[in-house]
Amino acid sequence: MGKPLQIMETVLRDGHQSLCATRMRYRQMEPMLGALDAIGYKALEAWGGATFDTCLRFLDEDPWERLDKLKANLKTPIQMLLRGQNLLGYNHYSNDVVEKFVQKASAHGIGVFRIFDALNDVRNLRVAIKAALECPEKPEVQGCLVYTISPVHTNEMFVDLAKQLQEMGCHSVCIKDMSGLLEPYVADDLVRKLKAGLDIPVELHTHCTSGFGHATYLKAIEAGVDIVDCALSPFSSDTSQPCTETIVAMLEGQDRDTGLDRQKMTPIAKHFLNVKQELIKEFGLKGYFDINPNVLDFQIPGGMLSNLANQLKEMGAEDKYQDLLDEMPKVRADVGYPPLVTPSSQIVGTMATMNVVAGERYKMIPNEFKDLARGKFGRTPVPIERSFLTSILHIPEDQIIEDCSIEDAKAETFDQFKAELVDKGFLNPTDEDVLSYALFPQVAEEFFKKHYQPVTAYKRA
Ligand code: CO
Repeated sequence: MGKPLQIMETVLRDGHQSLCATRMRYRQMEPMLGALDAIGYKALEAWGGATFDTCLRFLDEDPWERLDKLKANLKTPIQMLLRGQNLLGYNHYSNDVVEKFVQKASAHGIGVFRIFDALNDVRNLRVAIKAALECPEKPEVQGCLVYTISPVHTNEMFVDLAKQLQEMGCHSVCIKDMSGLLEPYVADDLVRKLKAGLDIPVELHTHCTSGFGHATYLKAIEAGVDIVDCALSPFSSDTSQPCTETIVAMLEGQDRDTGLDRQKMTPIAKHFLNVKQELIKEFGLKGYFDINPNVLDFQIPGGMLSNLANQLKEMGAEDKYQDLLDEMPKVRADVGYPPLVTPSSQIVGTMATMNVVAGERYKMIPNEFKDLARGKFGRTPVPIERSFLTSILHIPEDQIIEDCSIEDAKAETFDQFKAELVDKGFLNPTDEDVLSYALFPQVAEEFFKKHYQPVTAYKRA
């Protein structure tokens, strides 16, 4: 018999991020935590990604308290998604903010740190990976290959990146296919090459956006992938992960049988189907997205398709949706084929939106787009044409950045954020409050105005 396939469950994070705008509340998770814990998942993804922002911005929840409650109810390792030097925000942070965030997340109960950089620039992963490796709680540290397709990306490039992650001390690697671009036979080749070239486990994360999901998993499983990410049925498929119950059933009695009890999942799935209906109703969501093989061209990650559609709607330009999807790959090519994932997906998406709404390309250029182009977030897979930078984007030569880590050193430090918060009248902030503020200044400030209590009121680690 082959090694049992392990499953990482995403219903508490990516599942609702992909289908319900990350709106699931802690109280909607709580009744099922014991049952989820008893399944035997490799890990439960429940924090990071967009959950932190959404907790503060829309759900009136303190993300650190949510993590404490999850930890109190779960023995299964809690996994989080972390964007390297970007953490969970939309900027690059100074090294001490990154280190402090990782230490605190580990202390509050994160058992698996999945760390990625939107540009696959390992310089942006070093600080977070090192900090996680040094945490006294000894969490698992997983490095990501952010998967994309372009005229320049090859499986060999991803294997080289994986080897670098292994050398950096990562305990495992994940192929992070956030837009469902990984075709079954390509997955077969990539997984075989990774398994041959690495000594650490390989995990696969995909979305069903283009319709490949379950087939891609089957080929990856046959090729020896150690772990796949799945979501329980109500929060699976479409722009989310393949379905947990389907993958478990598919392997029953076969070589890579997961050994998980599918019947135990039925009541959990039933609960989350109700939760999904509540979310659809309360937040006016659609709750599903049609499979769209054209994602192979426009490459928009699951969670973002709905945001883009909303953005156009707000600008009264709903009819430009198809134009936008056509414009995305053009803008992406102009800036050196970055993988499209937060924050590059938003940056390229917003630029493409402005191009189609203005009816003229690069007439209005957001600063974030200029920053991406001039190298502030790291190296793009292909160097960008100088003429595009200087004549089209009007970036002066002396603002083009070769070493992004020098820029990170100029970012605000933890103590500066803390002093700022104190200046605003929030005395004795906890380190957690400072971190929330560092990541989402305005949103955190609004949240603190409603909920701020002196430090002694919190029983925090
Ligand atoms: Co995902």
